[in-house]
Amino acid sequence: MRIVVLVSGTGSNLQSVIDAVADGSLKNVEIAAVGADKHGTYGVERSAAAGIDTFVVNFKDYDDRAEWNHALTEKCLSYTPDYVVSSGFMRIVGEEFINAFDGTYINTHPALLPSFPGAHGVRDAMAYGVKVTGCTVHIADAGVDTGPILRQEAVVIEDDDTEESLHERIKVVERRLLIATLADLAGK
Ligand code: GRF
Repeated sequence: MRIVVLVSGTGSNLQSVIDAVADGSLKNVEIAAVGADKHGTYGVERSAAAGIDTFVVNFKDYDDRAEWNHALTEKCLSYTPDYVVSSGFMRIVGEEFINAFDGTYINTHPALLPSFPGAHGVRDAMAYGVKVTGCTVHIADAGVDTGPILRQEAVVIEDDDTEESLHERIKVVERRLLIATLADLAGK
């Protein structure tokens, strides 16, 4: 199974997938490429260091979102992936992309969807005062953090949690869920 992974940040979740592929615990998965929406992400840097093909479709280089979306779609298609994985990819993709990867675009989100979608899932859960949050791996559709849920796991919010400490604990679970989801998909 070939995957393209999209990142906007540090790519620590991606690193866990790279490691799981390398140590053989995640079988039948090949990371065909890692792409970002901007230059200078550590996610791309660490992928290149691991010998993985990388690309940047820089949002700021395009006149409008549709053109950027078209370029991203074409670039991802060129790797003929079975799945595209958003692992901390912070841009909303458009209809052309969603149609091209209908049912094969996987997203991870640091909250228990459908609660707390959007860019600040961890912060929003804390601000609401929920005592339990978590993470979700799902098939992404045209909405923001919507689409069929594949895996989900709860994480308890401690009284002394900061957004950072909670997000770190969520990410530990997120990495495990993402790898388990990819193993499920690769086994099909
Ligand atoms: C993850 O929690 C992801 O769900 C969120 O951003 C984080 C990505 O972290 N959207 P990293 O880039 O993998 O370290």
